[in-house]
Amino acid sequence: MRVDGRPERTIAVEADGRSVTVVDQTRLPFEFVRRPLADVEAAAHAIRAMIVRGAPLIGVTAAYGVALAMRADPSEANLDRALGLLGATRPTAVNLRWALARLDAALRSLPAADREARAYAESAAIAGEDVAACRAIGRHGLELLRDVRLRRGGGLVRVLTHCNAGWLACVDWGTALAPVYAAHEAGVPVHVYVDETRPRNQGGALTAFELGAHGVPHTVIADNTGGHLMQRGLVDLCIVGSDRTTAAGDVANKIGTYLKALAARDNDVPFYVALPSSTIDWTIRDGVVEVPIEERDAREVTHVRGRSADGTVLDVEVVAPGSPVANPAFDVTPARLVTGLVTERGVTSASREGLLALYPERTKT
Ligand code: MRU
Repeated sequence: MRVDGRPERTIAVEADGRSVTVVDQTRLPFEFVRRPLADVEAAAHAIRAMIVRGAPLIGVTAAYGVALAMRADPSEANLDRALGLLGATRPTAVNLRWALARLDAALRSLPAADREARAYAESAAIAGEDVAACRAIGRHGLELLRDVRLRRGGGLVRVLTHCNAGWLACVDWGTALAPVYAAHEAGVPVHVYVDETRPRNQGGALTAFELGAHGVPHTVIADNTGGHLMQRGLVDLCIVGSDRTTAAGDVANKIGTYLKALAARDNDVPFYVALPSSTIDWTIRDGVVEVPIEERDAREVTHVRGRSADGTVLDVEVVAPGSPVANPAFDVTPARLVTGLVTERGVTSASREGLLALYPERTKT
């Protein structure tokens, strides 16, 4: 995507073929800056501290983290250390485990001298596949938006999204926002209602930033507003991303997604989830029981980051001091509330049958 006219990706290898930089998402929406990932520790820190975030981007960053480790020391002991360090950063997005397993399989049996080059090549392949998958999700999702518009007899297509599943959550384009960008490019008039997404405000800070940078009309709403808009007939469809989708189509996504799905069902608003196949966990079926839900720091709830009138970015306390706080970062939307899954291979029902129809090679898993 372009920022200030420049093509940007969330993660990039610089001209020397080895140095890795990422967009620092903790500085958005007020500043767009890239920062280097000097080593595997920096990559792990970037994931843990949400300098990078979003399931696909977490996976790609972890892959490059292994590459940086191999650059420093390609021994098998260091490979194990890197996999352990990166694997312990965040528990919910399955792309992290998926990418690390892929690097492990690619590197372990190689002579140490070959591991660095192979790790960078495999990481680049994962990044490239993510961009291609997001573009394909955009193409398939665009048809959904066109259908909605046709059924309404033309006019604006009004989409509601939660959290950030745009290009900042991936390498480029995004998952839930890829159909929006595709529609915008194709001249299909689209307007996005952006849930602010407390506690970290990925909607207000990141989704609004990237839609604005790309010129897509949007309105930021408080998290509690979506149901009201749906009752008033102001939302044509919801599209969200996913951090882990089970083999039966249950969807783990940013906390609050489930409530949007309930409101959508009550108001006959289609509720779609966009995801690349790297987000499918084929080993589990019951998402509510089996997906590990990350519990994050209470400070994300007790404090809010913002910019003061003099331009200083600071955290302010917003909760009664001393009150206990819970901060689960994700929830699970059961498959029965999901109208369809938009993947790189097409749109399918949120069910084992639907997923296997698109990924028949998984029949034996
Ligand atoms: O905690 P985050 O910001 O990494 O969580 C990301 C999300 O939950 C997004 O909603 C997204 O849909 C999944 S990544 C495309």
